[in-house]
Amino acid sequence: MNQAKTFERYTVTTALPYANGPVHIGHLAGVYVPADIYTRYLRARKRDVILIGGSDEHGVPITIKARNEGTSPQAVVDKYHTIIKDSFQEFGISFDIYSRTSNPMHHQTASEFFTKLYNDKAFEEKSSDQYFDEETKMFLADRYITGTCPHCGFEKAYGDQCEKCGTSLNATDLINPKSALSGNPPVMKQTKHWYLPLNRYESWLRQWIIDGHKHDWRPNVYGQCKSWIDGGLQARAVTRDLDWGVKVPLENTQGKVLYVWFDAPIGYISATKELTPHWEKYWKDSQTKLVHFIGKDNIVFHCIIFPAMLKAEGSYIMPDNVPSNEFLNLEGDKISTSRNWAVWLHEYLRDFEGKQDVLRYVLTANAPETKDNDFTWKDFQTRNNSELVAILGNFVNRALVLTQKYFNGKVPSVNALSTQDQEVIAEIATFPQRIEDALENYRFREALRELMNLARLGNKYLADTEPWKLIKTDENRVATILNISLQIVANLSILGDPFLPFSMEKIRQMLNISALEWEKAGQAQLLLQGHQLGTPSLLFEQIDDAAIEVQLQRLQDTKKANQLLQFQAQPAKESVAFEDFGKMDIRVATILEAEKVAKTKKLMKLTVDTGFDKRTVVSGIAEFFEPEQLIGQQVNMLVNLAPREIKGILSQGMILLAEDADGKLVLIQPARAVKNGSEVK
Ligand code: 2FM
Ligand code: ZN
Repeated sequence: MNQAKTFERYTVTTALPYANGPVHIGHLAGVYVPADIYTRYLRARKRDVILIGGSDEHGVPITIKARNEGTSPQAVVDKYHTIIKDSFQEFGISFDIYSRTSNPMHHQTASEFFTKLYNDKAFEEKSSDQYFDEETKMFLADRYITGTCPHCGFEKAYGDQCEKCGTSLNATDLINPKSALSGNPPVMKQTKHWYLPLNRYESWLRQWIIDGHKHDWRPNVYGQCKSWIDGGLQARAVTRDLDWGVKVPLENTQGKVLYVWFDAPIGYISATKELTPHWEKYWKDSQTKLVHFIGKDNIVFHCIIFPAMLKAEGSYIMPDNVPSNEFLNLEGDKISTSRNWAVWLHEYLRDFEGKQDVLRYVLTANAPETKDNDFTWKDFQTRNNSELVAILGNFVNRALVLTQKYFNGKVPSVNALSTQDQEVIAEIATFPQRIEDALENYRFREALRELMNLARLGNKYLADTEPWKLIKTDENRVATILNISLQIVANLSILGDPFLPFSMEKIRQMLNISALEWEKAGQAQLLLQGHQLGTPSLLFEQIDDAAIEVQLQRLQDTKKANQLLQFQAQPAKESVAFEDFGKMDIRVATILEAEKVAKTKKLMKLTVDTGFDKRTVVSGIAEFFEPEQLIGQQVNMLVNLAPREIKGILSQGMILLAEDADGKLVLIQPARAVKNGSEVK
């Protein structure tokens, strides 16, 4: 086990989300929930720690969103910054500051940082040909250009990254590049930019990461860094031709801004400056531990590029760890903002009022720490009902309700201890160390599992000792059992605080205590004999099927809407001679009777009036219509199709149907009623 060194202070940063949309469960599971648990834990241990967050308000996605919505980038970021900030707060992400990169303090800090590097000759200045859109008179940076990925063939890859295979790209790598603004193929035009020559830092990075962090960084993080470094590092442009961002602080650089990935991580520093005049000790003192919580798509920026920038500047510390998570999927599919395939935090908070801890719990228990994981609403329900309610809530409730019932809510005395009591007390004492070790080493799932094991211990103790039976014969013994159970509850309230802050506050109210010190966890005398407890109430509620159905239905609707949006008509089949078409006898007919064919899902037996006869047709539409919806409807029907037997019924003809993008069949009907038997030509 990695015994983590204690530092004098801690700077914990969370990736700054782009303010071009709300945050979703993928962001929460990957970054904000673990960072918040870690910080709450450090605070509980009385360490000097700050949790830094804020909105990333520059970059091309924001300007594209503004363009698409006919508004300004500032209006876009104002809207989403507020939504994101408010939802984080309601969700209990305990930022010491949640700032934004459009703040003047940030523009100043990022400009100064750039200027220092410029003056120190840390950049290379290069003119090169870059894509330019002649219609809009704009250089096409990053996402302004799309084309085919040279690695996987995905046709909608961006100029900076292919979202399908994750490869980071240069715009000139794309095959068949197109402007995202006009759709036109771009031309090449010369422009000047400043580059950070990462190659200069290669041997230092090798030493610092490959030799220095092999054992304490997560394998996924270490592996990505190693393959980047082994692949050879190149100079990266740190400026762009755009009008939204931090202006390049040099003469004659109209229309040029800092690249968003240059300015955004400096946002961590600007936010710290805003928070405290003593910001430097959080960034420049070797006794400070810097930890970046990020998602896996941000690894290279936080482990290679930002450290190279800090190294070039010269006065900053390096991150001690970058605990990056893998991705969380939703119901088996990649979370996607553009496809609206997500559980949005602000919507969750509206739909599940007061249930912040349920989502915090599920996202931690199922955190994608070592591999991609899947969030499903069924799992959410099961973890709530079978774990939070049945294990944690149930134990707390039983301990409190029994004390209420037998001892008027006063903590009873400890009398003679049985062997089992002694074993339980000894076991309680082992939990803090295990939870601490897991948390210090960023193993949040494991830490939470340990917490639940403490509740399990409590449940087992009550089930084994059965105080509800003993009360008739041995009140002294029951007093001891409930005292020890209540001590477990008090321990849970300390150790559970980083994970489930809202529920632990509720436990403290029920115990009628204020927060207990972390260092006391493990003890079995936290609540004194005679202490009057508060009123017990349920810690967690069952989540019923109906609530889950609503969420699943919403995702179904999204899926359908996406299918409709993505529908591409098939090209026409081979041509047929007019005479061949003339052989088809298509008529208007009316459905007279309809009934489902027994023992099939899809088939419907229809009786139709063709104008010249009444006949039976079997049609595969039973999944889409109820019989009564069909009776009386006029349809188009191929009447001279050779009869065939289907499930023992002779089907004479075929009803014409259209298949919609979502696979649903719809009737083809005349626009107004016509005589049955009318020819369709
Ligand atoms: O990937 C993203 O969402 C970026 N906005 C993260 C930026 S992290 C930091 F560097 F600001
Ligand atoms: Zn690709």
